[in-house]
Amino acid sequence: MKLTVKGFDIHAGFLDIADQRAVLAAVRAVVAQAPFFRPETPYGKPMSVRMTAAGRYGWYSDKKGYRYVSDHPSGQPWPAIPAEVLEIWRSVTELERTPECCLINYYDAEAKMGLHQDRDEKSMDWPVVSVSLGDEGLFRMGNVTRGGKTESIWLRSGDVVVMGGAARLAYHGVDRIRSGSSTLLPKGGRLNLTLRVVD
Ligand code: SIN
Ligand code: MN
Repeated sequence: MKLTVKGFDIHAGFLDIADQRAVLAAVRAVVAQAPFFRPETPYGKPMSVRMTAAGRYGWYSDKKGYRYVSDHPSGQPWPAIPAEVLEIWRSVTELERTPECCLINYYDAEAKMGLHQDRDEKSMDWPVVSVSLGDEGLFRMGNVTRGGKTESIWLRSGDVVVMGGAARLAYHGVDRIRSGSSTLLPKGGRLNLTLRVVD
């Protein structure tokens, strides 16, 4: 089922359980090569979300600011974006252009992500595609400027969101995780993948 909320296209239940397991296995292989780390905000505060990435670029943050980098903090290049994940991009966007970054966020029971815009990419003409796995997350959608009315929806395991058009630069964030709402991840928590064209 597809619904649109404030310009965000939400494909609820896009991945069935077999697809979710296949994507999870592919993500685990990435994480084995590029372990999760906890970035610091430019203000020196550790983020509550743990991150890693696949693709030519990973997103990174420290006192120098937010940016895309070619290597994991270990100095190794990021692993390739798994084919299963690229297939999701292709099928929801119908674009020939492929993303260069698959950011992988892990939310434990306490993690959240404040309202922000995705604006570290060179062009805002490409959508950002988000894939949710594991526990449900309360996703808040705002406007292209800070403030104003927001709407929230619980994203479930297998849901895919396309942030394009008017929603590409809209503020969004994750208020909280519903711990124990999914059995996909044996240790619980929520994984979110975001696919981005960077160059
Ligand atoms: C993000 O905006 O990078 C993540 C969104 C989400 O976790 O659903
Ligand atoms: Mn974002």
